[in-house]
Amino acid sequence: MYATDPLTQAPVGTEKATWLTQSHAHMAPGEGWLSPNEVERCRAFRFSKRREDWKLGRWTAKLNVARRLGLTEDVSSLSAIDISNDEDGKPHVLVAGDPSACALSISHRAGRAMCTVVDSGVRNGCDLELCEPHGETFAADYFNAEELALAHARPGADRDAAIALLWAAKESAVKAVGTGFRIPTGSITALPEDITVRGDWRPLNVAVDYADLHEALHGWWRIDSAWVMTWVSDRRSAPPAAALAY
Ligand SMILES: CC(C)(COP(=O)(O)OP(=O)(O)OC[C@H]1O[C@@H](n2cnc3c(N)ncnc32)[C@H](O)[C@@H]1OP(=O)(O)O)[C@@H](O)C(=O)NCCC(=O)NCCS
Repeated sequence: MYATDPLTQAPVGTEKATWLTQSHAHMAPGEGWLSPNEVERCRAFRFSKRREDWKLGRWTAKLNVARRLGLTEDVSSLSAIDISNDEDGKPHVLVAGDPSACALSISHRAGRAMCTVVDSGVRNGCDLELCEPHGETFAADYFNAEELALAHARPGADRDAAIALLWAAKESAVKAVGTGFRIPTGSITALPEDITVRGDWRPLNVAVDYADLHEALHGWWRIDSAWVMTWVSDRRSAPPAAALAY
């Protein structure tokens, strides 16, 4: 049973999320670290880019899970961690065939992957994006009036970063609620704090309001050089802790 915040009555996590990003250069060669189910899945991908992105996501997730659970990180230990997806795409983790004490979220983008791990029972979503220019219509197509005001208040590269952050926040939210973008982007409002600050985790709130789905999600964002990372969950908690030195 989780404690609740005395002011908001929102559930409060007992354990910090752990986060990790890895690139292809970090990934062990071969398939020995994949579980038998994962090997089968891996071989079924038609396109090599999707297969390599998927593998990097699995690699990043397994390392993060192993660190959190205090498992060794050799190939055999990593192959006992099996990460599958439910029919909606949400990832689930088994360790040596048993449900584990943790839940996770995965993102991959441009040769890099991110994974966050939380206690099982906590709903969470992470996203990794590049701060890069988007076409004129991107923000208008996907952001609501509140978000457009946040993005347009910033010039040049800061606007690109703000747009990447707002998008990542929405994507984290649809992972945390488990729907993906089957719900419209306009039904998700991202409210990040201090968009211009770089380098450390900053607070992020995201509201999801669609049909009978009403969720207040809480989390954190950070920008490191060209990358923006977001993480939200259904409870208030401290910023995610790095699973490995970053
Ligand atoms: C969830 C979603 C936003 C992720 O977008 P993406 O561009 O693949 O971005 P990312 O790389 O950041 O995330 C991928 C990871 O999200 C996770 N994910 C996928 N669907 C999820 C869901 N419903 N809930 C939680 N996490 C989910 C998976 O772990 C996936 O990685 P994996 O397949 O390697 O395990 C997107 O897939 C989506 O909206 N899906 C639902 C709608 C849909 O099915 N569209 C089909 C194409 S139009």
